[in-house]
Amino acid sequence: MFASAQADSKSDSFVEKLKTFYTTCVSESIDPKKTAQGRVVFSDTHILKVDKQFKSQLSSIKQSSGISIISTEEHHPEISQLKIKYLDNIPGSNETGFLVRFIVKGSGKKVYFYVSDSTDDRYDPNNYCKQIDNLKRSAPIEKLETTLSKIQRQSANVFPLEKWGDDWEEGRRNQAVYNCTSDPMILKNLDTYVFPNINGDRELIILDIGGGKGRLAEKIIHSAQQKDIKVYYILLEPIASQVNKAKERFSKIQELYKDRLIIQVIVSTLENFTKQDCYHKYVGAVDCIISSGGPLNMSIVTQSDAQKNLAVMHGLLTKDGKIIVNGLTHTLVNKKDFHKCGFTLFNMSARIIDVDGDPVVKQDYVARKNNTI
Ligand SMILES: C[S@@+](CC[C@H](N)C(=O)[O-])C[C@H]1O[C@@H](n2cnc3c(N)ncnc32)[C@H](O)[C@@H]1O
Repeated sequence: MFASAQADSKSDSFVEKLKTFYTTCVSESIDPKKTAQGRVVFSDTHILKVDKQFKSQLSSIKQSSGISIISTEEHHPEISQLKIKYLDNIPGSNETGFLVRFIVKGSGKKVYFYVSDSTDDRYDPNNYCKQIDNLKRSAPIEKLETTLSKIQRQSANVFPLEKWGDDWEEGRRNQAVYNCTSDPMILKNLDTYVFPNINGDRELIILDIGGGKGRLAEKIIHSAQQKDIKVYYILLEPIASQVNKAKERFSKIQELYKDRLIIQVIVSTLENFTKQDCYHKYVGAVDCIISSGGPLNMSIVTQSDAQKNLAVMHGLLTKDGKIIVNGLTHTLVNKKDFHKCGFTLFNMSARIIDVDGDPVVKQDYVARKNNTI
């Protein structure tokens, strides 16, 4: 049916509603006095009625990923794609809502609508108009989405540390992302940028920061051993229950590879690790850092802590050490941050992950510490 959404009858009707919403929004015949909860963001003044059912369908997107993209190329005469983004922080207000974007066929023009998240029928239209004005003030239309993403990254909530004691990765979607896109990306980049540089019989020192239960560590160790590379694997993880599970896993692998493998587990956050005496032993000694959903990512740390953590990671690496970064949530450091910390980027790639049938873009990074000596 739709190119990017495996539309069942429920999502079909949802797409139908969105198309109607679009048609109503662009139509000239709207009664501008109608008080309702959907409005074109730029150029138009009409406010449209959006029913509760429509809103609850929008909310289901909020629960899955925050963003949904649906191709309507073959199914609507005017629009080729629609995108729905949940705004959990509208600049200048405490309100939440949805930004609905349609791409017009032929011209590629983007048309934006705002839908309030409020389910209260007695909402205040003046307040509603204020949200639109805040959105308009926050960015010119061509920068609206990038500005909103930036704001979202700057103000994203951090999960309490205890949350990582749960089996957070067990969900079908999380497992699929790790097994099908995230882990293969790390293994491929190790093959390309890290493993070929190990000479002779020396061991490769890998530091896996926020390594959890050693899920990815196991895959990396097997991969290195298949290439006959000795490994010194350090897993840094603050949560004891995760560490215990990692240790169970490691005892079996250790048995398999014996003296070709050394594993060390450090129970700490990265931030606390820097305050420990043993930390100095690792400075400038690590060949490769892995941060897969670690303390550079949204939900794990704030953006300013992610930037500080990147600088710490830089200090831990050997003079041409490598770092590979990805994760389930967005990475909070960007190309500029890598350069500022003294890295050269080898690779910065957008990985498209499938979230309930919709593509969501994640940015991955592979970098090398600048050889300054
Ligand atoms: C999304 S999980 C990723 C686990 C693992 N890297 C994997 O790929 O399976 C995030 C992990 O980072 C750990 N973590 C959270 N805050 C951290 C911090 N400040 N420093 C180091 N690790 C942290 C959590 O305890 C959790 O195990």
